[in-house]
Amino acid sequence: MAEEEKRPGSIYGATAESCVVILFGASGDLAKRKVIPAMYDLAQHDSLGERYAIVGFARTPMSDEKFRGTVGEAAKTISEVGPIDPAKWDEFASNLYYTAGEYGDQNSYAQLAKRLTEIDGERKLGGNRLFYLSTPPGVYPDIVEQLGRAGLARPSNPNSWVRIIIEKPFGRDLASAKELNQIVLNVFEEKQVYRIDHYLGKDTVQNLLVLRFGNGIFEPLWNRNYVDHVQITASETLGVERRGGFYETAGALRDMIQSHVLQLTSLVAVEPPASFDATAVCNEKLKILQSIRPYNLEMVAQSVVRGQYSPGVLNGTKLPGYREEPGVNANSRTETFVSMRVLIDNWRWAGVPFYLRTGKRLAKRSTEIMIQFRCAPHIVFRERQIEPNRLVLNIQPDEGISVSFGAKRPGTEMRIGNVTMNFSYREGFGGTSRSAYATLLNDCLRGDATLFDRGDSVEAAWSLVEPILDVWSAAKTATVPFYPAGTWGPKESDQMLERDGRQWYNP
Ligand code: BG6
Repeated sequence: MAEEEKRPGSIYGATAESCVVILFGASGDLAKRKVIPAMYDLAQHDSLGERYAIVGFARTPMSDEKFRGTVGEAAKTISEVGPIDPAKWDEFASNLYYTAGEYGDQNSYAQLAKRLTEIDGERKLGGNRLFYLSTPPGVYPDIVEQLGRAGLARPSNPNSWVRIIIEKPFGRDLASAKELNQIVLNVFEEKQVYRIDHYLGKDTVQNLLVLRFGNGIFEPLWNRNYVDHVQITASETLGVERRGGFYETAGALRDMIQSHVLQLTSLVAVEPPASFDATAVCNEKLKILQSIRPYNLEMVAQSVVRGQYSPGVLNGTKLPGYREEPGVNANSRTETFVSMRVLIDNWRWAGVPFYLRTGKRLAKRSTEIMIQFRCAPHIVFRERQIEPNRLVLNIQPDEGISVSFGAKRPGTEMRIGNVTMNFSYREGFGGTSRSAYATLLNDCLRGDATLFDRGDSVEAAWSLVEPILDVWSAAKTATVPFYPAGTWGPKESDQMLERDGRQWYNP
């Protein structure tokens, strides 16, 4: 158990101020599965403000009671925050309200404004408001513009605040991300805007910064002199589930690489920030994105592999191919897998490849960062083949860190074996885990944007992936390699590393 045992109530930040959270897209999957359970979790830890209200907004007409029942049922069955206590849920649910409206209709926002004033007055919430956009991204511009027109984007009194959380995807290419930034910043100030990437709310992702900058022993090795290469894998066993329609317009490059995987890359590569505050951390992360070598046609051909899952077997279960999933075109060329070689052209990382990989229906669910160190410069032992040292950070599901190194095998002969030293989060900290969404909501309610994305970083990430998207969309007849569901992706991905004399480290 860690030295300071966690106290209940201490896993999220200090209690936020009283406020009302307005949840757009309240009847959607994300709201039910992640956002509302996260708010429930915060309420259980006294981290949602002394008084609070949550107002759901969506198209379907519904009473407050019906809304409470619907999200309650969903939360009890699909919540990621663990079992929900029915009595505590009922108490929490008494703070839930619902307003139906059309996202682009001015009258709906006039009604919303009226409702908010009433709730604010009744519950004495001090005028603090957080708008949470968890709708399909196509309606973000409408919502933002209507909030502006209805006068809801500015605080109603000098002591209150108004903030907005915008879910990913933030745009679908560079032009649309720029346009969306423009629309948002016409209505809100940057300091009011919180672009969410839920990977940054995961404890083990934040631990990357603690590991690097809170310890003296790793950072001296964390550079081109000692690191051979880095691998970042975000593999899922799930397919596209019920999101086939959305996924057809996205693909793995947009859905995972542009956001989560590039976030992980920048945290592994980032220089030490001057302090752990939003501006300092975001400035350093942006520099990494700007130092990544831009892709051209030749680099896309040599350094980027896409794939799509075909029927296969995972843990004994037969699984359909992507093209057979509901909502997916029978001739779809959408990629469900991407692996790529990334080069960071700066003093620390010059010549050290970062291999990134993500996919659906792969062999195992795991998000993992593997740092492979250079071998000893000269081996004095007779045994010449010694495994390189590896530091593996397991982000999920078995959160932990392991270091592998060579050790002498017992016996008279000088033989070397590879051993691993493991740290498990569960064992080290007694299994206290936080929901990534609750962490980020709590940060936003307290006005801390350190773990959110800034407009310029989102654009920089799109600038990086856009040339790849362009090459793919121009190559209309090029084959998209298939990989059987339940495997580690197409053989082209293995071949990319083999050409560099390396291989994937499979979790
Ligand atoms: C989402 C993607 O942002 O992240 C999904 O849209 C993906 O396609 C999900 O499944 C993965 O998140 P996690 O936290 O389950 O790794």
